[in-house]
Amino acid sequence: GHHVSSQRVRIRRRELRRRSNIDNFSSSFLHIFKSLVPSEDEITKQEQLLFSLKKLVNKEWPDAELHLYGSCANSFGVSNSDIDICLAIKDYEISKLDILLKLADILESSNLLNVQALTRARVPIVKMMDPVTGISCDICINNLLAVVNTKLLKDYAQIDERLRQLAFIVKHWAKSRRVNETYQGTLSSYAYVLMCIHFLQTRDPAILPCLQGMEVTHKVIVDDTECAYFDSVEKLCNFGVRNKESIAQLIWAFFHYWAYCHDYTNNVISVRTGSIISKQAKDWTRRIGNDRHLICIEDPFEVSHDLGRVVDKFSINILREEFERAANILQYDPNPTVTLFEPY
Ligand code: GTP
Ligand code: MG
Repeated sequence: GHHVSSQRVRIRRRELRRRSNIDNFSSSFLHIFKSLVPSEDEITKQEQLLFSLKKLVNKEWPDAELHLYGSCANSFGVSNSDIDICLAIKDYEISKLDILLKLADILESSNLLNVQALTRARVPIVKMMDPVTGISCDICINNLLAVVNTKLLKDYAQIDERLRQLAFIVKHWAKSRRVNETYQGTLSSYAYVLMCIHFLQTRDPAILPCLQGMEVTHKVIVDDTECAYFDSVEKLCNFGVRNKESIAQLIWAFFHYWAYCHDYTNNVISVRTGSIISKQAKDWTRRIGNDRHLICIEDPFEVSHDLGRVVDKFSINILREEFERAANILQYDPNPTVTLFEPY
């Protein structure tokens, strides 16, 4: 009795304290979003580079394909980011490692700069810089799951424009606050975009559907993993219209959720199901090896893969403090569109 009602009072007060003018900040946030989107010119340069790399690669491997993946292809890329390329070679006789070294050779003897083969990385890559366009890029071999999840993210982005707006703001915040550094135990850009998609799937009314829960119109099998979902997203362009929340409101609610509402002890966010699932159901309750599961974000296709696995007992506190800081700024700060992005 008493406990419950005092909790209700507290919730009501929190609601009352919610600033009434949050919508006033939407135009400033949209302005920031637009300033982050890459220009047509930059996209043309990326295509030029891809085209000339294709020619080089096909001289050695006529059947090989080059796919863009990551932020330059998923529509969540800010301007001046590096580009990620996947070299797809079928039925190769030589090992992945030898392909990587051969590729580095080919690039080196063309006019590409700073060619480096990182053969011992988790995902082995060749890094290089193109002096013509000034673009840096990473090339990996046969990482086709990344190509598929790139398409999934791009498809979600076409359903409601608020997804890209929210994700650009969240990525910009994460980079400014230095919580987008997986080698320091914070989250990848890919993880933040999944958090945004999941958040919009679970608004009421929903702003995004769950594409993997719908009729299958696109199906590929990659490394024994079936990747299937509804990809005729042009039919869903009115999906979110019943929800009238402004971008500023959504940014506020996103940080509020991760600061005060998410159940870190028990819950996993899952874009695949468009809902919250339990750690118990995934057997993510214990630390196994280096996977601590302190914040759980299920990969939509590699379902045993927790994108929060990089987070450790120190960085979880840093992350949660940054979510709280962001939520409080959106709630109380007179200049949230500036303060939110103050460098750490
Ligand atoms: P920025 O480079 O920060 O703009 O974002 P990005 O979207 O390119 O993300 P990131 O460089 O973190 O990852 C590149 C791509 O690798 C992602 O878009 C995914 O397609 C793919 N990927 C698949 N699994 C993982 C994973 O566990 N971690 C990361 N970081 N990327 C993954
Ligand atoms: Mg990238």
